[in-house]
Amino acid sequence: MQSNEGHHHLSAGNVISFEKLSLLFGGTDDTGVVRGSEMVGDRYRDLLQEIAAITEYQWRSGTTRGLVKGFMLSGPPGTGKTTLAKRLAYELGRRFEAEDEPPVALAFVDGGEISRSRYGESEERIRDIFLHARSGFTAQGQRSVLLFDDVESIFMARGSQHAKEWHFSQDSVFFHSIDDLDTSRATIVLTSNRPDLIDEAIRDRFLSYVVDYPDLETLLQMVQQIPAIGQLTGAQQSTLKTDLIAAVKNGTVRSMRDGQRFAMRHFVAKLLKKESLAQQIAD
Ligand SMILES: Nc1ncnc2c1ncn2[C@@H]1O[C@H](COP(=O)(O)OP(=O)(O)OP(=O)(O)O)[C@@H](O)[C@H]1O
Ligand SMILES: [Mg+2]
Repeated sequence: MQSNEGHHHLSAGNVISFEKLSLLFGGTDDTGVVRGSEMVGDRYRDLLQEIAAITEYQWRSGTTRGLVKGFMLSGPPGTGKTTLAKRLAYELGRRFEAEDEPPVALAFVDGGEISRSRYGESEERIRDIFLHARSGFTAQGQRSVLLFDDVESIFMARGSQHAKEWHFSQDSVFFHSIDDLDTSRATIVLTSNRPDLIDEAIRDRFLSYVVDYPDLETLLQMVQQIPAIGQLTGAQQSTLKTDLIAAVKNGTVRSMRDGQRFAMRHFVAKLLKKESLAQQIAD
């Protein structure tokens, strides 16, 4: 394992190591299968298994110009797109853990941040991340998942009202990099809640999945496994459940994030023994 320290421009915050992902998501049952203690819902688990299986196949088959360059996850805010991408990196890290190679890395590009950067800088950042994917992020030959998060502002459709000259130049750097990607060692995940704004030529290059609002059962499960909620009394928990069901029925709670916020307010109200003064905001 040789260090690449010398030619790094990426700040450490842009790369999440397998070790860190393990701290976030770790936990296996006695058969060695991920318990998914924080990953609830069949749809989420099925999605994760599918994209992990495709990537594992390509990585193991050693095809450097594989058919699948990566995945595009789209859906409303707070539905778990970013979480799924991070989970993919963790899942692949686990599947390749036994191999004698550096642990899988997750490289993270924040679309909002990149679109605010100076002219020319965003192309540089995009080029840089693909260069690192080729050489390895923290060690030579490292496998990686490249997450481009909330990309609607980076890869805007040609002819769209907001598209500027430099979007085209970013897009062409991106096309070139995708087409050159070594699919035996890397994969790309794009997330967006406005896929309609994204250049079709970008969308065309990925397998596309919709991450929609979860069903009631999944929301209830997610809330139940929040540690703070586990500390409420049985009676308090069943009130929370009844209230949550009502909130889902009247449409105030839809996404995973809505559900978490709802649980948090509930918890705080129990703690203070009165309604919280915190502002109520919706996505
Ligand atoms: N399957 C799941 N099980 C449990 N918790 C989940 C699951 N999916 C998402 N969450 C939780 O829901 C919250 C929102 O998820 P996340 O940030 O991934 O959504 P997003 O779709 O990326 O949102 P945005 O569109 O705003 O970027 C996170 O705190 C995450 O931990
Ligand atoms: Mg996100």
